[in-house]
Amino acid sequence: MKKACVMVAGGAGYIGSHTTVELVEAGYDVVIVDNLSNADISAVEGVRKITGTEIPFEQVDCCDRAAMDRVFSKYRFDAVIHFAAFKAVGESVNKPLEYYRNNLDSLMTVLETMLAHGVPNIVFSSSCTVYGQPDKLPVTESTPRQAATSPYGNTKQMSEDIIRDTAKAHPELHGIALRYFNPIGAHPTALIGELPKGVPQNLVPFITQTAAGIRECLSVFGDDYDTPDGSAVRDYIDVVDLAKAHVVAVARMVEHKSKANYEFFNIGTGRGLSVLELVHAFEKVNKLKLNYKIAPRRAGDIVAIWADTSLAEKELGWKAERSIEETLASAWAWEKHLRGI
Ligand code: UD1
Repeated sequence: MKKACVMVAGGAGYIGSHTTVELVEAGYDVVIVDNLSNADISAVEGVRKITGTEIPFEQVDCCDRAAMDRVFSKYRFDAVIHFAAFKAVGESVNKPLEYYRNNLDSLMTVLETMLAHGVPNIVFSSSCTVYGQPDKLPVTESTPRQAATSPYGNTKQMSEDIIRDTAKAHPELHGIALRYFNPIGAHPTALIGELPKGVPQNLVPFITQTAAGIRECLSVFGDDYDTPDGSAVRDYIDVVDLAKAHVVAVARMVEHKSKANYEFFNIGTGRGLSVLELVHAFEKVNKLKLNYKIAPRRAGDIVAIWADTSLAEKELGWKAERSIEETLASAWAWEKHLRGI
């Protein structure tokens, strides 16, 4: 049987590279498309090394319709996974037009090109940010979305709506949006992982860079929240588990396992961890002391969120498997690999 072929748009990025590995290991043909604006070619090399496969790479901007047409003509795709987007919440507040232009244009160009070439399936990288600060925890897929608090978050909501409406107008199109909670960790080989440019904005890269001596001290943003230890609570999902969720989402569509042509799922662990719990777990599993201090709350942060993942479990047969200890050990192994420690 011919293997299904998947375009991974944004496949040189953090989640895209891990997803490419899992797709190849599950028997899919994969083509990586990335303009390398916020990713490095070394991730493509890492993925090739892990899988022992010369995965094709096309350096193309997803907003470039003519270039996308060429890629869609060169290969015969069965599905697209769309990761190619900007993702820094704070930056999006200062550069809203860049976020709206890039994140929406790339999605619309991908969808238009898919329709023009008869490619029927798309998996989209969405985020738990669409829920804002929910009244009730954990959040299920029926929890209402709230008005976005950043242009980044707004692009996620608008992108979900664009896919839903396009799938409604074109019944041959199927879309699944995966609402990620907080992706962390790295591949167990330490050959791929997160590669933040400049000062990391997210917690785990800041922790690993502090442990490596690149940053002097981690600031824990707030210890006066209404949570058991006062620090904010999130649902930290291992990036390899998250990558596997994309594989099952693709399989669901190419194997026609669902009648709905637009669906969305929470992808988390179902467990909330506070910033301080995460810091202490990192110290314990990696046997080191982290230099950290309590700092004021970060503007725009919510207090707590974690996922109810029962829908993904029931419908996709997916659930997170790696323990937080394995994940935090992998994050540190990746940082050490990067720095030659
Ligand atoms: C945010 C977005 C999420 C997005 C993700 C990726 C929201 C509500 N969430 O997640 O949609 O996918 O970024 O960029 O918009 N922290 C510290 N010190 C640090 C860094 C972080 O204490 O140096 C704390 C934060 O205050 C927060 C937790 O760690 O409580 C996690 O922060 P972070 O990794 O930045 O992710 P989110 O803000 O949860």
